[in-house]
Amino acid sequence: MFMATTTALPSTPESLLPLVLKAMEGAPSPRLRQLMASLTTHLHQFVTENQVTEDEFAVAVEFITGIGQATGPQKNEVILAADLLGVTSLVALLNNPAGTALEHESRAAARVSHAALLGPFWRAAAPLCAPGESIVRSHTPGDTLEVCGTVFGADGQPVAGATVDVWHASPNGWYENQEEAQADMNLRGRFTTDAQGKYWLRTVVPAGYPVPTDGPCGQLLDAQQRHPIRPAHLHFMVSSPGHRVLVTQVFPHDDERLNSDPVFGVTAPLVGHFENTQIDGRPGQRLVHDFHLTAGETVFPKPPIP
Ligand code: BEZ
Ligand code: FE
Repeated sequence: MFMATTTALPSTPESLLPLVLKAMEGAPSPRLRQLMASLTTHLHQFVTENQVTEDEFAVAVEFITGIGQATGPQKNEVILAADLLGVTSLVALLNNPAGTALEHESRAAARVSHAALLGPFWRAAAPLCAPGESIVRSHTPGDTLEVCGTVFGADGQPVAGATVDVWHASPNGWYENQEEAQADMNLRGRFTTDAQGKYWLRTVVPAGYPVPTDGPCGQLLDAQQRHPIRPAHLHFMVSSPGHRVLVTQVFPHDDERLNSDPVFGVTAPLVGHFENTQIDGRPGQRLVHDFHLTAGETVFPKPPIP
């Protein structure tokens, strides 16, 4: 009579994990082996600790299926889900050690700027702009904002010829690619630092806006009674050969949602002082913000949208 060898078959919840880990041991990539073993272990622990029911598992499957289905050329719901769990910001913080003194400890300029998540709205090849040029390219009501500062390199010295790519939402809360009424590339531009490492641009004062809520992520926010509105911010991508590309954001100091950003992108060094002032005889704001780069390979991210 045939008797199956049952020693390697699971009979209890705990006996499953070692078998799954063993099945994955053959992956040639050591990093893949490490990441999958860790992820699987955490997942099994999560399911066991929380005694996840079959109905709850079905809801999770439906959510993950839904974020895939809601993703397309104009929107990435999968990244949004990672954003809302704080995972995108965690990866940015982990991989961009900031605020630590480098070998030039005595110099204040040797600080490293904090990175922040890229977000879904960066477009490569924004128009190249002259110093002081406005990035307002179609009628965009709002107070004028002047932004200027210096880009410092890994040696703590100002960097000439660095690129400061800036983009932000209009004061009504839409990026140009989300709204027909705005001109192509409205509120986007690339500036080059001068011989002293300085950049200078003009735009309108940004406002907060909601992350997309028309998909499964919106339902999750609702279920958790969380609001979807990001504090107002400017996005920056600062680059110079021989330096890592800095992707970051700056938030006005007086925004009431600094402590409740749905994507957890605000860190203290990213809060800028938006000073009230007069610009061309009208009320406006001025922001002075420096960037501190680190040495490394200059690798640009893949644009989330064309
Ligand atoms: C943004 O800042 O553009 C953004 C970031 C995460 C989710 C949605 C929007
Ligand atoms: Fe944004």
